[in-house]
Amino acid sequence: MAKAVVITVDGPGGAGKGELTRRLAARFDYALLDSGAIYRVLAYAARKAGLALFDEDSLVQEAQVLNLSFEPAADGVHVLLNGEDVSQEIRTEEAGANASKVAAHPAVRDALLQRQRDFRQEPGLVADGRDMGTVVFPDAQVKIFLDASAEVRAQRRELQLKKQGKTAEYATILQEIKERDERDRNRATAPLKPAPDALILDSTALTIEEVEEKALAFIKEKLGSV
Ligand code: DC
Repeated sequence: MAKAVVITVDGPGGAGKGELTRRLAARFDYALLDSGAIYRVLAYAARKAGLALFDEDSLVQEAQVLNLSFEPAADGVHVLLNGEDVSQEIRTEEAGANASKVAAHPAVRDALLQRQRDFRQEPGLVADGRDMGTVVFPDAQVKIFLDASAEVRAQRRELQLKKQGKTAEYATILQEIKERDERDRNRATAPLKPAPDALILDSTALTIEEVEEKALAFIKEKLGSV
């Protein structure tokens, strides 16, 4: 039997993956997997439990019992840890950096692999992350790699933080983005890189509408209908 359709959207933080993923999932009425949220919640739970982010064995144990759920709400999908809404807490810059550290451990990634694959369902799934097309769903029917310059990603993040009324300094954000990129791209296991059969989209000079349009054209080419 043919497997349910998966559209993977990989790329560095701030390239617009989240927004593209949400739009595609809504358009096709597909399920959505925000894999970064899983690493963010694991890092958050580990910190709460007093674990060191370099302690791979303890992190694996934590990953195995992680009680995580996603709950659709009017303002997007909320992330629950042991039934408690941690959506805000896991979205800070620090939480992103911690997630990137936790995600660098091969055994931790292994422990979370099946949990991610379980999101595949009819009529389809849009999966957002770093290794969706390379490791988690290598047989995905459509693979997109969304990139953008670090400078533009930092500008977008600065704007986003300001809108939320938070103080944000461009230079610091850019520095953090570069550090996270460096770690995600250069780790030994499942590094951030496009799958050979992915459409590479550079969103540096594109609006989200233009990105969506190009993604839709590629999906049509791959799936035959949109
Ligand atoms: O997409 P995000 O910013 O929420 O991801 C946070 C971190 O989690 C990212 O810096 C690296 C890690 N991550 C990963 O290693 N693999 C994924 N599929 C998704 C995220």
